[in-house]
Amino acid sequence: MKESFYITTPIYYVNDIPHIGHAYTTIAADTMARYKRMSGCDTFFLTGTDEHGQKIERAAKAHETSPIELADKVVIRFKNLWKRLDITNDDFIRTTEPRHLKFVQLLFNKLYEQGDIYLGNYEGWYCTPCESFFTETEAPDKSCPQCGRTLEKLKEESYFFRLSRYQNKLLEFYKSHPNFVIPNTRFNEVKSFVTRGLQDLSVSRTSFSWGIPVPFDDKHVIYVWFDALINYISAINYGCKNSETSRYWPAVHIVGKDILQFHAVYWPAMLIAGGIEPPKQVVAHGWWTSEGKKMSKSLGNVVDPNSMISQFGRDSFRYFLLRDVPFGQDGDFSIKAIKNRINSDLANDLGNLFNRVATLIKKNSSGLIPDVSGLPEAEENFEKMHKSAAESMEKFDFLNALKSIWNYISWTNKFITDAKPWALTDKNKLDVTLASAAYALHAIAYELAPFMPDTAEVIKRRLSDNSEFKWDNFKWDIRGSKVEKGEILFRRYDFKKDVKENKDHEKEKSHISIDDVMKLELKTAEIVSAKRVEKSEKLIKLEVSLKDEKRTIVAGIGKSYNPEELIGKKIIIVANLAPRQLLGIQSNGMLLAASNKDTLSLLSVDKDIDSGSPIH
Ligand code: ME8
Ligand code: MG
Repeated sequence: MKESFYITTPIYYVNDIPHIGHAYTTIAADTMARYKRMSGCDTFFLTGTDEHGQKIERAAKAHETSPIELADKVVIRFKNLWKRLDITNDDFIRTTEPRHLKFVQLLFNKLYEQGDIYLGNYEGWYCTPCESFFTETEAPDKSCPQCGRTLEKLKEESYFFRLSRYQNKLLEFYKSHPNFVIPNTRFNEVKSFVTRGLQDLSVSRTSFSWGIPVPFDDKHVIYVWFDALINYISAINYGCKNSETSRYWPAVHIVGKDILQFHAVYWPAMLIAGGIEPPKQVVAHGWWTSEGKKMSKSLGNVVDPNSMISQFGRDSFRYFLLRDVPFGQDGDFSIKAIKNRINSDLANDLGNLFNRVATLIKKNSSGLIPDVSGLPEAEENFEKMHKSAAESMEKFDFLNALKSIWNYISWTNKFITDAKPWALTDKNKLDVTLASAAYALHAIAYELAPFMPDTAEVIKRRLSDNSEFKWDNFKWDIRGSKVEKGEILFRRYDFKKDVKENKDHEKEKSHISIDDVMKLELKTAEIVSAKRVEKSEKLIKLEVSLKDEKRTIVAGIGKSYNPEELIGKKIIIVANLAPRQLLGIQSNGMLLAASNKDTLSLLSVDKDIDSGSPIH
């Protein structure tokens, strides 16, 4: 029988649009799912969305919509992003689906009937953004130990899950499953948390209504985390007769370190209480910051995966995330870092290798891989690489798996350089060199397939292998196959040309949200003076007056306007643009103009409106 493998991502909240953190976890899970499928495992990969709770209810209110309408909208964003990233999930669960609700109520009921859930009163502190309860000892200053935001005081009747009862069972379970949580340092944190003692967990709320009702007491809705965790078994119809997917349990959960406690403490306790086997493993990864800072909407530095895909392509983005930072550790995302990776690893190492091999085979062997078996050393090195990459993958060490592959790419590149095929006169030696390099490249495509599916497919097809990426289909010896050179695989980023390139990609930019629009402070302003900037054909220095302030703005409109004709015009400016120096003059704002080829036309208002009026 085939070995089975079940992998999950967290189900993401629908109060917010997907960002790089969500993409990261999902790409990691997808890479692992592809890896397992290729190796012949019977694999099931689940992702989805977490749609209940106070946080979603509040977000919906803020958007003047209902929670389910908000969820319906945001779910599309997630699903579209997963399509763009070529995520191969087998199912997508939404916690508002009836198939899920049924399970949550069933487990809640069972635990209630066996005395593991009881009615009491909760008095303490709550963080709505984290949907988490904290005791006074955990949060002595009334701010969330997770995110730092101010906690809300709660005093409600509540059902409690007798978590305290499961302390020893959990500790025994951890002991008999030494790899339950990776990395090990995080497992130690989990163990010491449980060793310090567990308090019963509040698992229902009465102060809002957006949730699954407690089956026997509809004043209460079930706590969103109790609800959400159950997705991992409701999605596979766990324990149901005729379920085709129930057999996949137990799962490996990939999560961010922020939600490890829920997955490594509460969830196994809930399952043990329910008489269900705990998860196989919980893999906790680190946290991404952006350009050196914590990502936040107010800082405006949240990395949008859609725009990264547009700029760099999905394979490069996938590669960067798994290669730049050890899985488990925190990392920083920056445009410079991704460009450097693309230039050195993808364009230089991998792209060049393909290009060299294809060029040499075209020139010296009429585009056909020479009819020789290749060099034993190339095959031995491949087998070594394959083994060490597999060992890394078993530990979710994506970075070292990629390093092993890249060592082999470097070895192959060096092997060609050392053999100097352009100077070889011995035909047999030349054939062996070219065949070895082509075989190696073909093997590299298989190795890379879980990480960079598009690139791997292109390389494989250009080597005339049209079979599906399965290790069972892999043949080392592909002599006689036709090699197609095709277009270059990765282009290098020229840091100097950045500005131009960004323009080239503007076409593909994704939508922005209303929040983005609201960031712009647009105002009317009257031009009171205008003068050409010395040594510039384009720049004009303007003084504009708003209601009770004057500003200098330097504008590139000198080819379309003479300074004289500008005076007295009422125009529209972006008032909150950070000051910029243009040819030594500080410009405080930007004016709006439409452009048509070389002609610019200033935007203005069509009624007499005071200067400094806001524009909505
Ligand atoms: O917590 N760096 O959903 P969520 C890395 N609904 N990963 C990040 C990240 C960052 N800066 N930000 C988010 C929830 N993530 C619950 C989960 S599961 C039963 C319920 C990733 O939308 C990371 O995987 O807040 C983290 O655990 C997850 O997104 C949290 O997503
Ligand atoms: Mg979160």
